[in-house]
Amino acid sequence: MLLRIRQQRSKFRYRYRMQPESKLPQVGTTIFTVMSALAERHGAINLSQGFPDFEPPGRLVERVTHHMAAGRNQYPPMMGIEPLRERIAEKARHLYGVPVDPDTEVTISSGATEALLCGVHALVRPGDEVIVFDPAYDSYEPAILLAGGSVVHLPLQAGQFRIDFEQLSARISQRTRLVVINSPHNPTGSLLYQEDLNQLADLLRAYPQCYVLSDEVYEHICFDPDGHASVIATEGLKQRSLAVFSFGKTYHATGWKVGYCIAPPALTTEFRRVHQFNTFTTATPLQWALADYMASDPQHYLKLPEFYRHKRDLFRRLLEDSGFELLPCEGTYFQLADYSALSNLDDVAFSRWLTEVHKVAAIPISVFCERPPEARWVRFCFAKQEATLEEAADRLCRI
Ligand SMILES: Cc1ncc(COP(=O)(O)O)c(C=O)c1O
Repeated sequence: MLLRIRQQRSKFRYRYRMQPESKLPQVGTTIFTVMSALAERHGAINLSQGFPDFEPPGRLVERVTHHMAAGRNQYPPMMGIEPLRERIAEKARHLYGVPVDPDTEVTISSGATEALLCGVHALVRPGDEVIVFDPAYDSYEPAILLAGGSVVHLPLQAGQFRIDFEQLSARISQRTRLVVINSPHNPTGSLLYQEDLNQLADLLRAYPQCYVLSDEVYEHICFDPDGHASVIATEGLKQRSLAVFSFGKTYHATGWKVGYCIAPPALTTEFRRVHQFNTFTTATPLQWALADYMASDPQHYLKLPEFYRHKRDLFRRLLEDSGFELLPCEGTYFQLADYSALSNLDDVAFSRWLTEVHKVAAIPISVFCERPPEARWVRFCFAKQEATLEEAADRLCRI
């Protein structure tokens, strides 16, 4: 008996001693995982996490199996295979009218998430400040904290979700190492227009130590007639920016986790120093398949705005008679909805209630913010088949 007590005590001490002090004590499981699990548990339609309920193009999938069977299964080069980097450079030239060197300015990453982490770690040192705009995608802050930086949250202007340049110029300083921007914007569906990027370039002229990490994963899901405005085509920004993209969003293949970073050579060198010892590289057959598909079907990404505009318009029309007030959506596959006419619950409690009782899962917006907004908003993902959107809207209209 005495022996057993001793053994238990020592097990407890061992466990206690082995419990590390967390580097990210405030970070729990991401809201996307939490809501998707809740949706599954309650048999709810999952409009929370941002992924399509339809398949990638058949020919693209066929190219993956082709390259696997053809023996393309060993390590590719650290920066990604040449044909894929060339296709990306061609696309940048074609869409944004800028020369991009595939050897020194393009790096393939394991999803945009890896590129964001590498970008932050390449630039941010302990004590540096990094500005993010709330609501902010949830991977930025942990990456900055792990690099020893401190996060400065500035709210986007309420309603329009544009950058408040007065506030930005009041807060930016010689200690600011990085500004993180995201357009088209998750979760609000707002855009940064060319004039916003030009204004940012003007403002940053006085801060030569400050870089920009531009999250452009929804570049092809942009409903503005002028198209997406990119840092890589903005004089004054392209020299100091790492632009991050994701094939997952473009080719309905979020589970493949393939993305890339475009940056000038000096920044790419630093980016690759981190990437090399992070994932080193990204699955070989996926890279070959994407290179083939980009060459043979460039129409895919050109048709994407229309493809998603149709879904957006359908979803908005279906919700016209609901108690939700829909905010404008200019890009991404997310629709922000004000539910204040339906409930006094806070947005986390409302999202749970919606999932458990009405069987439609959504994402609460407060989790993207340092300080929860006063408005009551949730985010729905409309990257779904029409039948899914119709069934979800039917349930939402009955609340
Ligand atoms: C704004 C934003 N950035 C980055 C990512 C991550 O992209 P990936 O899945 O390619 O890592 C997402 C995914 O939802 C996103 O919405």
